[in-house]
Amino acid sequence: MKITMIGSGYVGLVSGACFADFGHDVTCVDKDADKIEALKAGRIPIFEPGLDGLVAANVAAGRLAFTTDIPTSVREADVVFIAVGTPSRRGDGHADLSYVHGAAREIAENVSGFTVVVTKSTVPVGTGDEVERIMRETNPQADIAVVSNPEFLREGAAIDDFKRPDRIVVGLDDERARAVMTEAYRPLYLNQAPLLFTTRRTSELIKYASNAFLALKITFINEMADLCEKVGANVQEVARGIGLDGRIGPKFLHAGPGYGGSCFPKDTLALVKTAQDYDSPVRLIETTVAVNDNRKRAMGRKVIHAVGGDVRGKRIAVLGLTFKPNTDDMRDSPAIAVIQTLTDAGAAVIAYDPEGMDNARKLIEGIDFADNAYRAAEGADAVVIVTEWNQFRALDFARLKTVMNAPVMIDLRNIYRPDEVARHGFSYTSVGRAD
Ligand code: UDX
Repeated sequence: MKITMIGSGYVGLVSGACFADFGHDVTCVDKDADKIEALKAGRIPIFEPGLDGLVAANVAAGRLAFTTDIPTSVREADVVFIAVGTPSRRGDGHADLSYVHGAAREIAENVSGFTVVVTKSTVPVGTGDEVERIMRETNPQADIAVVSNPEFLREGAAIDDFKRPDRIVVGLDDERARAVMTEAYRPLYLNQAPLLFTTRRTSELIKYASNAFLALKITFINEMADLCEKVGANVQEVARGIGLDGRIGPKFLHAGPGYGGSCFPKDTLALVKTAQDYDSPVRLIETTVAVNDNRKRAMGRKVIHAVGGDVRGKRIAVLGLTFKPNTDDMRDSPAIAVIQTLTDAGAAVIAYDPEGMDNARKLIEGIDFADNAYRAAEGADAVVIVTEWNQFRALDFARLKTVMNAPVMIDLRNIYRPDEVARHGFSYTSVGRAD
């Protein structure tokens, strides 16, 4: 099957490479000629474990190609996926669909023969109808079926999430597309991954509802953590105790500094806006957004409190900048708000992150960067763990103590146990557990 992926960013590149690995003939398209040249030269513009090898293998096998040429790649395709960005629109939180609509027009101008057009990008309910309207207006002769097929990929685990999905959701209103989408996902279908067919609007809402529910679940355990600190309970044990209930489940119950990333913040806001537009407000998600935003700054105040209430002239080492491990993505990372709170209070911040520092330098001013955890800790009055990278899970406390100005650790990801850190003579603060 010939598949064209419009948009070679995080979703388009991973999805294209995985479809090629299924044996399909895939062309990834992007307007950014530099990005396409880099991809042709085997350079992957994003950090995603395993993606470079997957791309190289499929390019070598002749199943994966890169181009800026939309007309040719659309004309030859059986299926065209729209995987372009849908960022939050400046100022009002709605999803910016200009790239999606632009892609729809260009596909309509070049499509030939029956072609299934798929919105893979996360798009508000009703976007599929709008894409179809734009395409039919642009080219009334176009023989197309517009389908919704949202992705559920986690950064840092995207290839595994694509190849071993909990489910594949396909929203269609044209039965001809069912056979094509079944063929596209045939290798997964054979592996018993549930292929859920529904309508386009239901499929679009499933994506937002899924991310919003996950964001809600994280925010719930974060609020439980705050309560645990007040009542003297342990949030990790609360999470375990409720997570053993099959109706709740153990995942996404890790208390931390708040969620970030390129999806939860954007998608929760977009769902809130859509719900308000349809006069059916989702108050639980409105509250989730507000609680999560407040939490990130509250974590900065937690650090200030842990070092005695005043950080003026103090050096604080921040370990972890990215919004989660195994990515270089800094979008809406809690580290940004934590560091801002600390520098606003007069602290000098030195940060280290295994992958995120290049992106962090573009986003955070007025701090220093070190090339490893121990360098960052030199002369520091406290070490703060913001992102749970594996390399922060077995720090040498004795070595930290010799280089630091004071043995103080604030662990916003509960990587360590309070008793083990106390044994090393550290003052230790974490999330939702008695210090
Ligand atoms: C998420 C969804 O998981 C994925 O299905 C969707 O397609 C895109 O958005 P992603 O944003 O890459 O994926 O990361 P995820 O692993 O979900 O974490 C999101 C945020 O929640 C991170 O900031 C993470 O640190 C935080 N988180 C996650 C917690 O604080 N606690 C948890 O238990 C889990």
